[in-house]
Amino acid sequence: MVQQVLQKVKVWDGFIRSFHWLLVVAIATLYFSAEEGMMELHFIAGYFTLALLLTRLVWGVIGSQTAKLSALLYSPIAAIKSFKLGDTKPGHGAAGSYMVIAFFILVLTQLISGLMTTDDILTDGPLVQYASSNVVEWAGWVHHNNFDLLFYAIILHVAAIIVYRIKGKKLVKAMITGRADNAQLSDDSNVVKSPLLAFIIFVILLVVLMATWGAEPLSYLFS
Ligand code: HEM
Ligand code: HEM
Repeated sequence: MVQQVLQKVKVWDGFIRSFHWLLVVAIATLYFSAEEGMMELHFIAGYFTLALLLTRLVWGVIGSQTAKLSALLYSPIAAIKSFKLGDTKPGHGAAGSYMVIAFFILVLTQLISGLMTTDDILTDGPLVQYASSNVVEWAGWVHHNNFDLLFYAIILHVAAIIVYRIKGKKLVKAMITGRADNAQLSDDSNVVKSPLLAFIIFVILLVVLMATWGAEPLSYLFS
């Protein structure tokens, strides 16, 4: 009897996994802090998310094979085919890659607009002082409406993960452990790099952002 042995393959490095789950916690914090009017916490979580996303984009150039931004570029036809036939390469599939690109654009738009948004009472994003009142008004509109798009994207994302699970693909487990069952991988696929450099870049960006824009909200939060 021929038994097919599924290889356990490391597909997500430690930074990608940390990035993902920290992003989930950060966006939940950003939503609830805005709802509760806790603007200092909102700003701190915003700078944290900015450092996280910028590091992810840098890691998309210098990081693991499955982290590469270039690996996200599929034709729309490949995306449609992947629904029927499934994906064989380690990393994001064709359809999932469109979702990932959408997330990067939506989160970046939310961050940049936030920097120029004011609550018209006490708290101004750090770039408000450099922008005209028209731009600030427009940024506030973007910050409000883009969040709705981000919210729908998250619902769609989680729904897609559930559909894949029903079809037998354990994507969440892979995003937690880094390892996926993949029978179709060639031996030379050493796809994952050490995440150390990514964490160093993240900490540097975080310290710079906190020291410049974060000092005031941080001192308020801890006073
Ligand atoms: C705030 C909510 C969320 C956001 C913004 C988000 C965003 C993202 C992003 C940007 C990626 C790509 C990771 C990368 O290459 O850097 C991703 C992948 C993934 N996310 Fe989420 N996510 C969210 C919530 C969730 C939740 C709740 C789950 C679990 C049910 C989940 C499961 C996954 C999985 C399994 C992948 C890998 C998909 C694949 O194998 O291609 N996400 N997510
Ligand atoms: C991914 C990151 C972010 C998310 C998900 C997010 C989310 C939100 C949400 C949901 C609101 C309530 C919007 C409304 O109901 O009109 C809000 C308000 C606000 N956000 Fe953010 N935000 C982010 C980043 C930032 C950043 C980086 C800043 C500035 C440093 C910022 C500054 C503000 C301000 C000043 C308000 C109040 C607007 C008002 O009262 O009309 N946000 N944010």
